[in-house]
Amino acid sequence: MARRTLHDRYYKQAKAEGYVARSAYKLLEINQKKRLIRKGDRVLDLGCAPGAWVQVALEIVGPGGSVVGLDLQRVRHGFGENAVTIEGDAEQIEASRLTGAGVAEPRLFDCVLSDMAPSTGGGAGGSGDHFLSVRLCEAVLGLTPGVLKPGGNVAMKVFEGEAYKGLLDRTAGMFEKVKGFKPSASRDASREIYIVAHGFRKS
Ligand SMILES: C[S@@+](CC[C@H](N)C(=O)[O-])C[C@H]1O[C@@H](n2cnc3c(N)ncnc32)[C@H](O)[C@@H]1O
Repeated sequence: MARRTLHDRYYKQAKAEGYVARSAYKLLEINQKKRLIRKGDRVLDLGCAPGAWVQVALEIVGPGGSVVGLDLQRVRHGFGENAVTIEGDAEQIEASRLTGAGVAEPRLFDCVLSDMAPSTGGGAGGSGDHFLSVRLCEAVLGLTPGVLKPGGNVAMKVFEGEAYKGLLDRTAGMFEKVKGFKPSASRDASREIYIVAHGFRKS
């Protein structure tokens, strides 16, 4: 099992193409199908370590855009001058630390990503993981008014379970369009799904 997952197609492709993790292909597919991030955008990536989504987001935004990453763990990889990574907890951090990162004047983001996952159950999506991942998504929604531009977009990972529908409904109350999406790079055994929300309605 470990051998199969460690050496699957996306793992090999990530190594060959210079991405620090196979998760790169999830964001590439989400963005291709759902058009979340555009050239020139300022992107916030919550739970960014080891940094594959930072790499992908930087490619999409190009030299006119920027990426701020946050993780509980220190990110070792360097991404160049358009990306800043911060060590911290998304459930605790002040929005102003994120909007002020890497810029002279605080700036809201065009897009907020969260690939955050609880570290307890190996990410396979048991019910403990489910409730913890819903809590992480609540932290994303809690930060949203302080970090996201009106009209901005969000994609956040959750492990499906009984609280999923309520989370989807709460997200729908804040955005114009909300849908669940499972990229093909998500492992079959995983119950992870991404809630993709377009058009933040700032109240
Ligand atoms: C699946 S990994 C993210 C992979 C990343 N998207 C990439 O492509 O490299 C999930 C990350 O979420 C982080 N995380 C979990 N809870 C967090 C929290 N409360 N605040 C910040 N990061 C958190 C973990 O430390 C872990 O690095």
